[in-house]
Amino acid sequence: MKVKIKVPATSANLGPGFDVFGLAVGLHNEFLVEEAQDFEIVIKGLNSLPKNKENLFYQSFVYPFEKLKEITPQVRIEMNLGIPQGRGFGSSATAVVGGLLAANAFLHNHFSFEELLPMAVELERGKHPDNVTPALFGGLVIVTSKKDAKLTYIKIPFPQDLKAVYFVPDFAMDTIAGRKLMPTHYHKNDVVFNTGRVALFLAALQSGNYHFLGTAMEDRIHQPARTKVFPLMPQIIDAALSGGAYGAALSGGGSSIIALAGHRFKAIAKKMAEAAAEGNISGSTLVLDVTNTGSEVKLIEL
Ligand code: HSE
Repeated sequence: MKVKIKVPATSANLGPGFDVFGLAVGLHNEFLVEEAQDFEIVIKGLNSLPKNKENLFYQSFVYPFEKLKEITPQVRIEMNLGIPQGRGFGSSATAVVGGLLAANAFLHNHFSFEELLPMAVELERGKHPDNVTPALFGGLVIVTSKKDAKLTYIKIPFPQDLKAVYFVPDFAMDTIAGRKLMPTHYHKNDVVFNTGRVALFLAALQSGNYHFLGTAMEDRIHQPARTKVFPLMPQIIDAALSGGAYGAALSGGGSSIIALAGHRFKAIAKKMAEAAAEGNISGSTLVLDVTNTGSEVKLIEL
């Protein structure tokens, strides 16, 4: 058997939706998995990932077989990695989702995507659902856990007239380390601040009143703490807004900044890059479509 898995990059949080919002965008990692005599991992694209059985994709590939007490087949894995690592694009979520989907193809689709979701959260380093869920399903996802701790999510098709403009710093940020900087308790004013913005964000998208997104993408839960390791973050967000973005926020746990825009992408990207350069932060810019298509599985050989 030979299977190709294509998994989109995702931006989590989008400002106020900490651990709850995730958006799939048009940048992908691809994984080709085929039965082979010898185990091998070949990685194309810039990376520093392990090529042994510690590799997160491989660990995720093994997981469904172990769950079913089946023998994991010997495979050769080829990865084409287009998504920057450690920049808030959910690159490790693509490895988890990709590995699970490849295994599931080998298992003749034993599991539904819904059944794979909790496995993906379990395998994800921080056990957060807000990258793996949109990576599987695409679009804008609102994901949360019920009282019994089981996940529940809704996928909302994202308006196609909005694009995601990114400033991608040359430095990486560690999502888990960033969380450790966050307070353990919040003042109720800050909770109300974020609750209002989560609601405003969804209402602004639904009604097409995108000019509310500037306020709707503000956050007092995680960005203030992460500003300690990325002090220029607020200036780059402001620069995106002054360039014409509707709203902007840290992408996931950083380090990229995502701006949502209807037009003037080049001007917005330029403004963000200029603000970064003024603060001696080097990086690059990206303009991406949002994708309502999640992960794709293509059987190449039976
Ligand atoms: N919501 C996570 C965080 C990032 O901000 O730490 C993605 O899982």
